[in-house]
Amino acid sequence: MNLENYIRDIQDFPKPGIGFKDITPLLSNPEATSACLELLASTLADKNINKVIGVESRGFFFGILLAQKLNAGFVPVRKPKKLPFETISASYELEYGTDTLEMHIDAIQKGDKVLIHDDVLATGGTAKAVCELVEQLGGEIVQMNFLMELSFLNGREKLGNKEIFAALTY
Ligand code: PRP
Ligand code: MG
Repeated sequence: MNLENYIRDIQDFPKPGIGFKDITPLLSNPEATSACLELLASTLADKNINKVIGVESRGFFFGILLAQKLNAGFVPVRKPKKLPFETISASYELEYGTDTLEMHIDAIQKGDKVLIHDDVLATGGTAKAVCELVEQLGGEIVQMNFLMELSFLNGREKLGNKEIFAALTY
């Protein structure tokens, strides 16, 4: 199955000049979703991952599926002021200004083996901020995985020598 057939290109969304990769056709097809989950999980056997982080909001879809598949706990990383308990935060650069992500202070324990999942690796700013959150709490980042990597934006360069897997690369 070619997963690329289930990703729809939308021109000029959310802003003129931006080409958006819409994953809703994939999510609406159970066989494609299952194939995508298998591919994402294919490099994770025997790595003893016990926590999977999903990044709000499009990282939640496969994040929770991966956590169940690995028999690991699921941890949401959220945009500011969404989480009810005490949080830690990390900021990252946008084209104009900065943005912040938050995680509950008790979501990761020291020594946890962590998978960070998101739908897209673009500039890498989001993923780098999530790494900072995990490291603040002493978690070990085993891998970061993504449905798609937009390799022309060089996000990997921001992420040092972390293990990165992308189901699709553009
Ligand atoms: C998008 C995408 C990734 C992030 C990648 O999320 O889902 O999380 O941008 O970009 P980067 O590598 O340049 O940081 P967005 O912040 O648009 O929010 P959403 O997931 O809630 O749509
Ligand atoms: Mg996102």
